[in-house]
Amino acid sequence: MRVVSGIQPTGNLHLGNYLGAIRNWVRMQDNLGEGEQCLFFLADLHAISMPHEPTELRRATLEMAAALVACGIDPSRSVLFNQAQVHAHAELQWLLNGTARMGWLNRMTQFKDKSGKNREGASVALFTYPVLQAADVLLYQATHVPVGEDQKQHLELARDIAQKFNNDFATEDAPVFTLPEPISPPQAARIMSLRDGSKKMSKSDPSEMSRIELADDPDTVMKKIKKAKTDPEPLPSEAKGLEDRPEALNLVTIYAALTDKSVEDVLADFGGEGFGKFKPALGEVLVETLRPISERFTGLLEDREALDAILARGAAQARQIAVPTLDATYKALGLVRG
Ligand code: TYM
Repeated sequence: MRVVSGIQPTGNLHLGNYLGAIRNWVRMQDNLGEGEQCLFFLADLHAISMPHEPTELRRATLEMAAALVACGIDPSRSVLFNQAQVHAHAELQWLLNGTARMGWLNRMTQFKDKSGKNREGASVALFTYPVLQAADVLLYQATHVPVGEDQKQHLELARDIAQKFNNDFATEDAPVFTLPEPISPPQAARIMSLRDGSKKMSKSDPSEMSRIELADDPDTVMKKIKKAKTDPEPLPSEAKGLEDRPEALNLVTIYAALTDKSVEDVLADFGGEGFGKFKPALGEVLVETLRPISERFTGLLEDREALDAILARGAAQARQIAVPTLDATYKALGLVRG
């Protein structure tokens, strides 16, 4: 088993990232067997696909590294690094561009969402973004990729690219790439905005009230939960009663994920109660979950040199692991590497 996943260092880590992905990263890291390995990275190369401020990107990369360590990623057990320090990511992307098809990329919903009405003005990087994402995981022969629901389409594309490359340039008994398996948590794969239950919680939402950030202080968390959009009905006793109530479903899902309970169990406790009772209970659970994370985060930020050293060491390890696959890819394509 080799676990590989990444996060863009844009904006702050939020509850959707944590429950949809990072908590799973930590759990997979903590349950690794002999010979198994986890690699986690800051996708700073992906971040340049949208307009960005260079000095801000550098700061955000270090802060996101601190946030991951604060959440429980242990750099002595997992390989933690940023893409830009491992040239093989960009290099493999180019090699895979020959295999990826325009039609496949045209179907990517993230490109459609992020380019919006301005497709002509979108960067080429935004369009080819999923090929870099494929390179990120194929480079390390990832077997498992823990991600939220929104990244599953990109992972399907990575599998398609790996499959086509193996078919076109390798033999069945000596494939160049492993087909990676996306892993999503059963109930927190898609955490929604606190202001609109039809939109996912996102770093790019202009309203800070739409998301809980991992560094939010207790008062801010309580305020955001209190103001979260709901409806006037009390909570139902069974999950079926949440079907047409996306905001209520989202809050119950968050509570269930944080307490490691099922939605049914949460409704067994809170069915018949109004949000006046449920919201403070949810706020409490959130505050208690975030407290140790934000304390560690603040401490880690004080020593930027230590963070730099963690990323430098992780990159050196990642570069080593990448060598055989990169070599095999050049060779399979008939290229002689300099
Ligand atoms: P990013 O930075 O948008 O998000 C990081 C992780 O958080 C998950 N996530 C969510 N899960 C549940 N509910 C939400 N509202 C929510 N919002 C975000 C994402 O699914 C993701 O797992 N392209 C990726 C970064 C990336 C990557 C990779 C991931 C680059 N290369 C290779 C896996 C493998 C991204 O922008 O994620």
